Amino acid sequence: MERVFLGVTGASGAPYAAVALRGLTRAGYEVGLCVSHAGAHVISHELQRNGPDEPPNAGVVVDEFVRAHADPAGDVRLLGLQEMTSPFASGSARTKGALIVPCSGSTLGAIAHGTGRNLIHRAADVMLKERRPLVLVPRETPVSSIQLESMLTLTRAGAVVLPAAPGFYHLPDRIDDLVNFVVGKALDHLGVEHDLLERWGEQQPGLAS
Ligand SMILES: Cc1cc2nc3c(=O)[nH]c(=O)nc-3n(C[C@H](O)[C@H](O)[C@H](O)COP(=O)(O)O)c2cc1C
Repeated sequence: MERVFLGVTGASGAPYAAVALRGLTRAGYEVGLCVSHAGAHVISHELQRNGPDEPPNAGVVVDEFVRAHADPAGDVRLLGLQEMTSPFASGSARTKGALIVPCSGSTLGAIAHGTGRNLIHRAADVMLKERRPLVLVPRETPVSSIQLESMLTLTRAGAVVLPAAPGFYHLPDRIDDLVNFVVGKALDHLGVEHDLLERWGEQQPGLAS
């Protein structure tokens, strides 16, 4: 079974992480899931509706996140933020790629500048040096020149920077449609099969591709 890394950081957009976890587990990957402290805070607030305060127990938040959103038959390995013995911390381990969704501005900066302090940063670093797929889904608006330069640096280094900017040309009816659009594009760039997207020109005969 192939391994994929899923990093969840503290940008707004926890629903994107939930759909990514479901998509990766449904597609049959072993998912190494690593959630930052701020990521757990945002999951608690946006998905579990616990209010805006930081949750007293991030582990409980992450367990509940996996229970609610992973495919029940899926293989999810929870990884500690400082777990540098994880396969994802080493280039010699066989891994398919990494997705960081949502990706905060500070995680973007740490990866872009090689100043990583946790497993999410390290896993991204490894993907870049091994030339494996790294997909980053930042969510911020407006963006500073610092964040724009981080995105440019990362793109030049081989990452796919895929802002959480859903299109509307597929005529979405529900928030889920917008979330699925962004995650579907991210999974495409990892080479993961999914049915989250209606593909332009494939469902609607006569439309341009
Ligand atoms: C509710 C909430 C929403 C946030 N939204 C964003 C956001 O959309 N984008 C962002 O870059 N940071 C956002 N932040 C700030 C990050 O969580 C903060 O910079 C944190 O240090 C990121 O750490 P991490 O990258 O280790 O997860 C948000 C924080 C909270 C509590």
